[in-house]
Amino acid sequence: MAGNAFTPALGRVGPTRLYDPIVALTRERLWRTLMVMYVAPRAEDVIVDVGCGTGSTELLLNRVEPRARLIGVDPDPNVIAVARRKAEDSGAEVQWKIGMGDALPQVVGSGVADTVVSSLVLHQCRLEMKRAVLASMYSAVRPGGKLVIADYGLQRTRLMRLGFRLVQFADGVEDTRPNAEGVLPRLIAEAGFRDVREAEVVPTLTGSISVYVAFRPE
Ligand SMILES: C[S@@+](CC[C@H](N)C(=O)[O-])C[C@H]1O[C@@H](n2cnc3c(N)ncnc32)[C@H](O)[C@@H]1O
Repeated sequence: MAGNAFTPALGRVGPTRLYDPIVALTRERLWRTLMVMYVAPRAEDVIVDVGCGTGSTELLLNRVEPRARLIGVDPDPNVIAVARRKAEDSGAEVQWKIGMGDALPQVVGSGVADTVVSSLVLHQCRLEMKRAVLASMYSAVRPGGKLVIADYGLQRTRLMRLGFRLVQFADGVEDTRPNAEGVLPRLIAEAGFRDVREAEVVPTLTGSISVYVAFRPE
C-alpha cells in the first residue's frame, strides 16, 4: 500500500462540480469512446473502473452493454455522490465503492474482473502509487482478463508538451512527469501484464491521451 492520499478529480484547479464541463474540453467523447471500444463490454462481464470519478465511463459502458456488471471505485466520496446521481438519472445499474486503487483485492476481491478499466487516474499518482495501483489491478482481473487504460502518455511533440503544462499545473509536476516521459507501458508490463500496447493516441488541448491495452496471462 502506498498511503491513502489522493489528488481529487480537478486537482488544484476547481471543485468537483466543474469536472464534467472541464474534462469535456479534452476531446473526451473521442478518447472515452475509443477506450470503451477496447473494453468491448459483453453481457455478464464484470468490469471494474478504477478512479471512476463522476461515472461517465459507467454511463457509456451501460449504454453499449446494459447486461455487463459495472463496479466503480474511487476514494473520493464527493465524486462518487455525483456518479451515483448521474447513474440513477440515466437508469444505469452500477455498484459504487469508496476505495483506493491500490486496495482492489480488499475493495472488490481478487480475480473477479473480466476487465479493469481506468481513465485519467495514473497521471495524478506518485510513481510508487502508479506501481501499487497497477499491481492491484493485476490482482483484481482474472487470468486471461483485460486491462484498458486511457491517460496522458508520452508527449511526443512540442505542442503536446506545451498543452500538458495545464495538467501539470492542476496535478503537479512530480506525479505527471513520468507519464509525459512515456513510463506507463513499462510499468504495466512490470506489474505482470502481457501484450501491452499503446492502441490509440488522441491529441488534445491538454496534451495527448493514450489508450493502453494489456492482458493478464492465463
Ligand atoms: C481526473 S479524475 C478521472 C475520473 C474518471 N476516471 C474520468 O475518466 O473522468 C481522477 C480520479 O481518480 C481518483 N483517484 C486519484 N488517486 C487515486 C488512487 N490512488 N486510486 C483510485 N482513484 C484515485 C480521483 O478521486 C478522481 O476521481
